[in-house]
Amino acid sequence: MKILDLLTAGKKLLKEENIDEREARLLLAFALGIKSDDLGKYFEVDDSTGEKYNKIIIKRKNHVPYSYITGNKEFMKLNFKVNENVLIPRADTEILVEEAINICKEFGDRQISVLDMCTGSGCIAVSLAKYVENAKVIASDVSEEALQVARENAISNNVFVDFIKSNLFENINDRFDVIVSNPPYIKKAVIDTLDKEVKDNEPMLALDGGEDGLRFYRAISNEAKEYLYENGYLIFEIGYDQAKEVEEILNQVGYKNIRVIKDYSGNDRVVVANI
Ligand SMILES: C[S@@+](CC[C@H](N)C(=O)[O-])C[C@H]1O[C@@H](n2cnc3c(N)ncnc32)[C@H](O)[C@@H]1O
Repeated sequence: MKILDLLTAGKKLLKEENIDEREARLLLAFALGIKSDDLGKYFEVDDSTGEKYNKIIIKRKNHVPYSYITGNKEFMKLNFKVNENVLIPRADTEILVEEAINICKEFGDRQISVLDMCTGSGCIAVSLAKYVENAKVIASDVSEEALQVARENAISNNVFVDFIKSNLFENINDRFDVIVSNPPYIKKAVIDTLDKEVKDNEPMLALDGGEDGLRFYRAISNEAKEYLYENGYLIFEIGYDQAKEVEEILNQVGYKNIRVIKDYSGNDRVVVANI
């Protein structure tokens, strides 16, 4: 099969679904197991590769996310395995990681303990273990399937993270200098209005934040204070419209120095507080 024909057909199918047609080229390189820059070296592919590519394009046309097809997502300049059991790491979450790294630096050289609650793919925990040398990182999730992916990501990125299966704090016994979390925060009623790509493919367990989207912020804020050392930090990722409500929750529980950090689009994205 001719590369040009495959690409033309692939682009057309993606365009019909308003999916960026440049993905057709990237997915062809993925099907061939080569870098996209090297596609120019090929004129034809064998039938089985062509069929493999066509199946991939159909998946993408049906709105299976690009990263679930390739099984991979870059985050904080590291590579993460992803599958349908974990949320695909978002660029916005790098804001939380960068803030957490800065906060960890405030502790100086002594060993610090960090908990990443609701770790999913492990992208936050693994990045912190990679970039904060003196951090002992523990990460938890209620989903065993997610933890399996997270464990693989720690190994492939050459870091040690202690993974614990736990419904929120149920199986957490240590105390921490820093607790970070990107919990599920979508309002139940809003889930139906999300892009097909998200609502039909990403795990509901990773999205559903309860009726008002704040269920996890309440539960984690309440319990975290028993698991933080004095002056320890709680750092949350939040939805763009949740800053006021999350600040209020933290205030009521007795946290201080509450501040909100914006993402690169100018939306409220991270809340930091001290106990
Ligand atoms: C929004 S995802 C975040 C994943 C990852 N930390 C990230 O930033 O990409 C939320 C995660 O919370 C987990 N989760 C949902 N309910 C939980 C619970 N009760 N206890 C612990 N984790 C939970 C889900 O399995 C999912 O992996």
